[in-house]
Amino acid sequence: MSSKAIFVQPGGGYEKVVVGSSEVRAAARGEITVRLHANSLNYHDFAVVTGIWGPAEKRIPMADGAGEVIAVGPDVTEFKVGDSVVSTFFPEWINGAPLVEGFVSVPGDGIDGYAREQVTAKATSFTLAPTGYSHAEASTLTTAGLTAWRALMADDSLKPGDTVLVQGTGGVSIFALQFAKMAGATVIATSSSDEKLERLKALGADHVINYRRDLNWGETARALTGGRGVDHIIEVGGPATLEQSMIAIRVAGHISVIGILSGVSGAMNFVPALIKQVRLQGVLVGSRSQQQDMIRAINANGMRPIIDRHFLLSEIVEAFKYQETNQHFGKICLDI
Ligand SMILES: NC(=O)c1ccc[n+]([C@@H]2O[C@H](COP(=O)([O-])OP(=O)(O)OC[C@H]3O[C@@H](n4cnc5c(N)ncnc54)[C@H](OP(=O)(O)O)[C@@H]3O)[C@@H](O)[C@H]2O)c1
Repeated sequence: MSSKAIFVQPGGGYEKVVVGSSEVRAAARGEITVRLHANSLNYHDFAVVTGIWGPAEKRIPMADGAGEVIAVGPDVTEFKVGDSVVSTFFPEWINGAPLVEGFVSVPGDGIDGYAREQVTAKATSFTLAPTGYSHAEASTLTTAGLTAWRALMADDSLKPGDTVLVQGTGGVSIFALQFAKMAGATVIATSSSDEKLERLKALGADHVINYRRDLNWGETARALTGGRGVDHIIEVGGPATLEQSMIAIRVAGHISVIGILSGVSGAMNFVPALIKQVRLQGVLVGSRSQQQDMIRAINANGMRPIIDRHFLLSEIVEAFKYQETNQHFGKICLDI
């Protein structure tokens, strides 16, 4: 049987995005078949689709997929037909320390992803979705949700009363704000837009800073902690933001090096990292068991992701063009 799928031709680029069909085989031992209903967009998917990190061969894009189990192969005990499920970023990384460098085993990059109607895959390619979530809501968790969760709760152990700084209003940062508030932390949030700052406050941000107007936002953030410094920073800006993050962070604080929104390289002054004994931790999403921990916490707290806008699967190029404008607040989803 075959199902509708989106393909990116080798090299990538919007003009190389085509509609086609992919084979759906019967679920073998340890596999499930999922009728996908939603994807969510990430910068990484954007890089694959636009050709920044274009695929070497024809590829079905999108790492984030959510849907319903429609068939279960022999020996699968974790899922049953009708379950709502969400994909895992690293189907082979079940728990413990990270296993691989880069994206060779990541759906939508090294292997085919979820911009399609149906897929048969190893059961470890999915987990149960949170109770009561729509498929679109569930799809936001694979990349952005898990990255924020791992940074705060697995790499660091966030405590009530800690201060977290989140940069901008993209998917990862909004999730980090929500998880930090869930854990009883104080949140300092930045944005280039005053209107978005108001929305951050409505979501629970305790302090907001316009990083475009306040170029010394690191000092401002530090002052907001009474001079002690921020305990944890969700660093998504990259070269343009790390210097201010080094000013904002407390002695022995934790900076999660997550994003490259301002580019991939830049000069770094090593002295603040040394004298403050900062813990700089590179992050690449997370493991399947971290995803299950995150979903358990979501189920216990009723947290819902912020979806800015929905597009149809066939409008995938329009959706990425919208993401490029940076108008969004939170996640952009595709309905399949
Ligand atoms: N390492 C990982 O595991 C991992 C996982 C997911 C994402 N990422 C990376 O993390 C970054 C964010 O991903 P995302 O999906 O959250 O992106 P996104 O949704 O596209 O975020 C875009 C937003 O980021 C903010 N932004 C842009 N440049 C900024 C800057 N110089 N300083 C502060 N904020 C800035 C803007 O917010 P305002 O409009 O409010 O200013 C913009 O709207 C990307 O580089 C992505 O590749 C890494």
